[in-house]
Amino acid sequence: MSQDRGQFSSRLGFILAAAGSAVGLGNLVAFPVMASKNGGAAFLIIYLFFIAFICYPVMIAEISMGRKTQRNPVGAFSALSDGDRKWRLVGMLGILTPFMIAVFYTVITVWLVVYLKEIATGGLETLADEATFGTLVAEPSLFGYLILLLGIVFTILLGGVKGGIERLARVLMPTLAVMLILLTLFVLTLDGAVEGIKYYLVPDFSKVSLTVVNGALSQAFFSLSLGMGILITYGSYFGREDNIPQSTRMVAIADTSIAFFAGLLILPAIFAFDPNTNTDDLSTSSVGLIFSFLPKIFLSMQMAVGYTGASIVALVFFTLVFFAALTSLVSIVEIPISCWIDELKMSRKKAVLLQAGLLAVFAIPATMSLGMSDFFTNFTSYGGVTKSFFDLVSDVFYETILPLVGFTVCIFASYRWKTSGLSEEISKGDPAYEGSLLQKYINFSLGTVIPAVLLVVFLSTVYQIYL
Ligand code: PFF
Repeated sequence: MSQDRGQFSSRLGFILAAAGSAVGLGNLVAFPVMASKNGGAAFLIIYLFFIAFICYPVMIAEISMGRKTQRNPVGAFSALSDGDRKWRLVGMLGILTPFMIAVFYTVITVWLVVYLKEIATGGLETLADEATFGTLVAEPSLFGYLILLLGIVFTILLGGVKGGIERLARVLMPTLAVMLILLTLFVLTLDGAVEGIKYYLVPDFSKVSLTVVNGALSQAFFSLSLGMGILITYGSYFGREDNIPQSTRMVAIADTSIAFFAGLLILPAIFAFDPNTNTDDLSTSSVGLIFSFLPKIFLSMQMAVGYTGASIVALVFFTLVFFAALTSLVSIVEIPISCWIDELKMSRKKAVLLQAGLLAVFAIPATMSLGMSDFFTNFTSYGGVTKSFFDLVSDVFYETILPLVGFTVCIFASYRWKTSGLSEEISKGDPAYEGSLLQKYINFSLGTVIPAVLLVVFLSTVYQIYL
């Protein structure tokens, strides 16, 4: 096996890196808004149920596939099916998906860099203006920031699993948690914060519809970085003797707690500074909320803490979001890299350079999709709407395909690798697994209820977006 593959130094290293991947825009923005609009605590209960009963077993299956084979998704599907071409193709979907997600996630992270620079140089007021976002994302200067960001991401990845990914997560994840707690405590001391907490958490079961349930599962799946090939790959860097169910639980708890706390920060902030907030304005789109809505909220803090104070709070918040996005971006770009290392027998250095080139080739048109180029901005149309190249990539690979990849993992682990193989791998670091309730539950549900539910979510998303 290639020396370049690497391994996490410990269980904690794995947990932090996986949590770094899981904690992203989904936690900090999409979750709070979704929860508050869809029944508060009622939504939370449904969400927790999905995390525990649907996502947790899929997480365990993905990590186990990676650890057993010590391979990327293509290699893992292939090795466990004795090179069956059909399953190798499914594995390729597990590479294509993160490859394309990286494309548009890079673009969003570039915007975050621009926002950080703007706020740091006194431009919070400009950002709070409705029109700014539209102009800013069409500026050719974005390419400079794109090069800067790609430089940071690929330098980290050049450092490898332990020296790059794990080291980044060890520094950024605790920092992120501390920043989140401090910012939340600050916001909770403000007048009006209670309104936000009420809006966030008071249960309202009448808001729970089928669409809400569907949305809760998609969000849970997405938030844990499932169906992106990430956990298969990270599993392949996970110690042979380590306990998979226990570590997985820690990642799920960390991810869900950060999403919950983000709600305690964002909603009270919104209500404290704009008590007249029209709740219909809170779009569930993370992009709209972060880039257009939140700067206004931060600016309105100036009455209480002055313009500089407001800018500092905004800067801390956007740094937090940037850290979350960076660790997620690094995790997703690592997947194709691990594939080039394993399957094309490349050194890490060559694989990183190849991926940097490939990502740039796609990230450039995606960057030009928001007004810079007519061709990429009005790239195609479906579902009765004109879509840009950026929209297309995001709709197909982010919004739609993840439950399908999850579905294939469940079917594969249950019927091709078989639950006996899965159990054997899990038992390696967890002798108590054999005969446990968890094992009984996974053996029963991974080939039945869970894939069925994921298929329904996939089909209903296809219906919603494209038809
Ligand atoms: N789990 C991330 C989130 O909740 O935001 C999702 C994610 C997005 C992971 C993009 C990785 C990534 F590149």
